[in-house]
Formats: sequence, C-alpha cells, structure tokens
Amino acid sequence: MALFETQVGIVGAGPAGLMLSHLLHLKGIHSIVLEAKSRTYCEERVRAGVLEHTSVQMLCKAGVGERLQREGLRHEGIELGLNGKRHRIPFVELTGKCVTVYGQQEVVKDLIAQRLADGGDLRFECGEVSLEGIATERPRIRMNRYGDIDEIHCEYIAGCDGFRGISRGVFPEGTLSIYERSYPFAWLGILAEAPPSQEELIYMHHQRGFALYSMRSPRITRLYLQCAPDEDIAQWSDDRIWSELRTRLSCADGWRPTEGRILQKGVTGMRSFVAEPMQFGRLFLAGDAAHIVPPTGAKGMNLAFADVHHLSEALGFFYCHGDGRRLESYSETCLRRIWKAQRFSSWMTSVLHRFENESAFDHKRQLAELEYVMTSRAAATSLAENYVGLPLDGI
Ligand code: FAD
Ligand code: PHB
Repeated sequence: MALFETQVGIVGAGPAGLMLSHLLHLKGIHSIVLEAKSRTYCEERVRAGVLEHTSVQMLCKAGVGERLQREGLRHEGIELGLNGKRHRIPFVELTGKCVTVYGQQEVVKDLIAQRLADGGDLRFECGEVSLEGIATERPRIRMNRYGDIDEIHCEYIAGCDGFRGISRGVFPEGTLSIYERSYPFAWLGILAEAPPSQEELIYMHHQRGFALYSMRSPRITRLYLQCAPDEDIAQWSDDRIWSELRTRLSCADGWRPTEGRILQKGVTGMRSFVAEPMQFGRLFLAGDAAHIVPPTGAKGMNLAFADVHHLSEALGFFYCHGDGRRLESYSETCLRRIWKAQRFSSWMTSVLHRFENESAFDHKRQLAELEYVMTSRAAATSLAENYVGLPLDGI
C-alpha cells in the first residue's frame, strides 16, 4: 500500500472538484483530486452550458477564463415562448448583467489543463474510493489504482463527487436531513450539427410539452423536449425528434430551428434535492454531491462554483489565520443561496412544463403566470436577476 499526504483530499474531478483544487492552489494550499472516470470521459461528458455572470467573473478572476472569454457566447437575454409567440427578457437592461454560453466540458478541459500546468495532483481512474476517519483530525481516503491500494492522509476532505458519489453516504446515520422533489417528466436532449438560427435561448411552453432551444457554438445547437421520465430513447428516430422540435418550437413570426445531423441524444431526469448540513467533521460536500436542481433554471454548475468559492475562502482563512469560523459556517452560508436557486429552478420548471392530470384551474393559473412575466417589468426583473445569478455574498 502506498501512503500519500495532502492538506485537502478532493473526491471528484467535475467542475466543483477541479475549481476547488485550483482556488486552493492560488492560496498556496495543497490538494489531491481523485476521479473515478478517465480524463477523456470527464472532458467529453456533455452537460451544462450556461454560466452565470458570477461564475464567469470567478473563472476570470482565477485566471482560467481566457478561452471562455474568447469562445463563450455572451447572451444578454432569453426568450420565453407561449403559443408560438416569443417574448424577450432583456437581462442587461433589467440587471446590467448577462450570462455566457460555454459548455461544461470546455470548463472542465480548461481547469484540467491549468491544474496540470501548475503541477497539480489529479488522479483519474480511481476505483473503490472510500473515506475513513472523517470525525477525526486525520481523515483518510483509500482507493484502488490499477490494482494497487493507495491511502491519502488529509487534513480536510471535500466531497465533490456528484449526486451518485460516495461522500454523502459517509455521513453518520441521522446527521443529514434530505429535502427532495421529483417531477413527473424528464428531458430528451440532443446535440446537433446545425448553426443556431437565433442568438438567444428559447424556453417554450407548448400544449405538447416544454421545449428548449439552446446552443454550444456558432456550429452546434443543443435542444431539449419534455418527455416521460421513463422515455425509451430507442423510440425516437432523428426524424421524430426534429418533427417534435419543429412542432413545439416554431413561432408565429416564421422562426423555426435549423436542423442538422444529430451528434448525441439522451434522456435526463428531473429532481430537486438538498442534503443539510453540507459538513460533518472534516468532510465538506460541494456541488451536486449536496444538491440537485432541475435544469430549467440553468443553475447546477453555477451552484457548484458558488460552493467551492465559499469552501476555498473558508479553508484559506483557516490556513492563513488559524481561524476556523468560516469553515463552521460553510454549510449555512452556502445553503442560503442554494435555497434561493432551488426556489427559482422549481418555479421555472413549474411555469414552463405541462403537468399531466393538472386541473383546468392550475393550467389557467400557469398561463397567467407566464403572461405576467412577459408583461410586467417587475416580474421580468425577478426572473432576470435570478437567471444571471444572485450575488455570492451579502444575501
Ligand atoms: P459532477 O459534474 O457530477 O462531478 C462529479 C465527479 O465525481 C464526476 O466526474 C464523477 O465521475 C466523480 N465521481 C463520482 N463518484 C466518485 C467516486 N466514488 N470516486 C471518485 N470520483 C467520483 N447546470 C448549469 O449550471 N447550467 C446548465 O445549463 C445545466 N444543464 C444541464 C443539463 C444536463 C443534461 C445535465 C445532466 C445537467 C445540467 N446541469 C446544468 C447541471 C450540471 O451539469 C451539474 O450541476 C454539475 O455537473 C455539477 O458539478 P459537480 O462537480 O458538483 O458534479
Ligand atoms: C443547455 O444548453 O444545455 C441548457 C441551457 C439552459 C438550461 C438547461 C440546459 O436551462
């Protein structure tokens, strides 16, 4: 068995784990990142695409925003659609801020490249990862790497291993409260080789179900359709997908999505989930390991960045000044903003999707809610300030 030592052991090389490792490095704090999958897998996994103003600022300030600024698509608003009519929510006019469309896998590539250039210790393809002694001052991570057992002695452990990781399960029984909601639908998502025929995202309410028009680059579009939670992707030929997208997204003004070769398709479930508190002993959870939002509000990756911002600040304060108070309040600090993002994400989801078996009253109320956002500056401003990202501190 090989033994290693570090200040912070980080489980998971998604946006949360990689960004945390980088932010700690900037503060002179050593970390080791352990990842179950291969580097290629992490760099090619297509997921989120929208970065809040706050996340863009964080990446740029940390010196990893150069390609993001060059290649990211600046979006100054979104369009909401109802019955084929589009209505723009102008973020910059309402909040002075905008969002940037830049694929999560591009952020991951940039962070891995930076960590490696800085001599960071990233270990991919780790099997049987387990955490021990989290209630002690010397927590340990064990793993199997290419047949050998490694043990890493840490001062702190950050569980950044996503919703299906192992870290949350290490909390002793009875120490976590779980708050969750599942939704009676999922999203069928595609990546298509088709140049965007419209500059901004369209969130479309339709009788047949919600549809979202998004993009990744000047050549690639990303589109989603509301579908059943157990939808069988094999039943969706490319023709059927494009026909459904045309039906739901086409607008009265003649706009329709440009079509092209489908590069990838998949079904994503929808869930709201929060585990509280986000700390036990020397183990801290960050990102999807602690909370999940339905993707309608485009918040998941952004929440992961907010958590690791607070965690790196708290660890920095401890290592610089010997002051552990920020570590103690980490969970409370993060959860205040997380619950606001939960509220926004479930609101966006409830206002835009078709709910099976909803009463006629609820349907009418939903349409009124959408019309209200489309016609009231106050309501549109509320949507805009949440979408571009609430401030990290001072809330
Ligand atoms: P993850 O990205 O899940 O990373 C966790 C890492 O831990 C993974 O690499 C995993 O392999 C590794 N791991 C797991 N278990 C172990 C283990 N035992 N040992 C070692 N490593 C382990 N968010 C947005 O902000 N905007 C969007 O537009 C958006 N759209 C989305 C669209 C889709 C289709 C999906 C699925 C998600 C979307 N999200 C979006 C959510 C976003 O992708 C996640 O919130 C984000 O990936 C969270 O980052 P993370 O680092 O916490 O977790
Ligand atoms: C995406 O481009 O993948 C995307 C955009 C906005 C969302 C969710 C996903 O709300």
